[in-house]
Amino acid sequence: MALVSTKEMFAKAFEGKYAIGQFNIGNLEVVQAIARAGKAQNSALIMGVSSSALKYAGPQFLMGMVKAAVEETGIDIAVHLDHGADFEIVKACIGYGFKSVMFDGSHYGYEENVKKTKEAVDYAHANGVSIEAELGVLAGVEDDVNVAAEHATYTDPDQAVDFVQRTGIDSLAIAIGTSHGAYKFKGEAKLDFDRLETITKKLEAAGLKNFPIVLHGASAVDPHSVEVCNKYGGKLDGAKGIPTEMLRKAASMAVCKINMDTDLRLAMTAYIRKHLAENPSAFDPRGYMGAAREYIQQVVEGKIKDVLGSANSL
Ligand code: G3H
Ligand code: 13P
Ligand code: ZN
Repeated sequence: MALVSTKEMFAKAFEGKYAIGQFNIGNLEVVQAIARAGKAQNSALIMGVSSSALKYAGPQFLMGMVKAAVEETGIDIAVHLDHGADFEIVKACIGYGFKSVMFDGSHYGYEENVKKTKEAVDYAHANGVSIEAELGVLAGVEDDVNVAAEHATYTDPDQAVDFVQRTGIDSLAIAIGTSHGAYKFKGEAKLDFDRLETITKKLEAAGLKNFPIVLHGASAVDPHSVEVCNKYGGKLDGAKGIPTEMLRKAASMAVCKINMDTDLRLAMTAYIRKHLAENPSAFDPRGYMGAAREYIQQVVEGKIKDVLGSANSL
């Protein structure tokens, strides 16, 4: 068991009709909670690193923590660049030892996205690294990009085939109604499963059988975390995510990676708030960070069992 690439993980996940969770990291407690959950559930894991997380923690600390997690738990963990915005960051992360990266050119026009993605693919493949790219635009907030719902565009199935063929990517992130952040739907939650099915069929017809699809913006915005946050002084009115059964359905289809970050942020905030409210004289960070770590582990174990279906996959 080791620090691995995502390629083999996805091949197994497609066959087994489950998905691997990408959980984003940025500090010690979150890394430990995710790794311990993977160990307890005997599941492979992907730890996602955004460019803001890289800035916050630094590549040496992040890689050091992930390596320590692999050593402590003995499970397969892939470390993956999340939403790499340009060639430079893709190159830098490959230099830090990432075996999996995402180049996100989804905000460019189609031809520009193809061109920039291809450049990143060639570099990644020359270095033995697998690479994900995105087609279609998700609504929501990620890093410095804030996409209003009316500017979101679902992935076009024919374009998806052309994009995969021309770029040579290893996995494709698509837009079918998910979005980043804690406010995903104003009304009823809805995902375009027909579009997912069509994309998969068209890829298959083009000779791209079992091609891994990725779902970003896939936090359930767990009601319990929102409730605890709000109970202890938070203000998260109207927070709403993707229902668990929809995510499970996607995982049983061609979706091999499901990205979750918001649910971990909410879990951490909820249990830090709770601990401090219940222990007003506490000031040892290990108290409130430890409480948050325990709860995040529970959340990740729940995702592995109920959303991803990846328990006992190692
Ligand atoms: O997809 C976006 C992730 O949630 C990353 O967020 O850039 O604030 O770390 P961040
Ligand atoms: P959420 O905001 O739904 O957790 O999505 C995270 C994500 O897509 C990271 O790439
Ligand atoms: Zn994302």
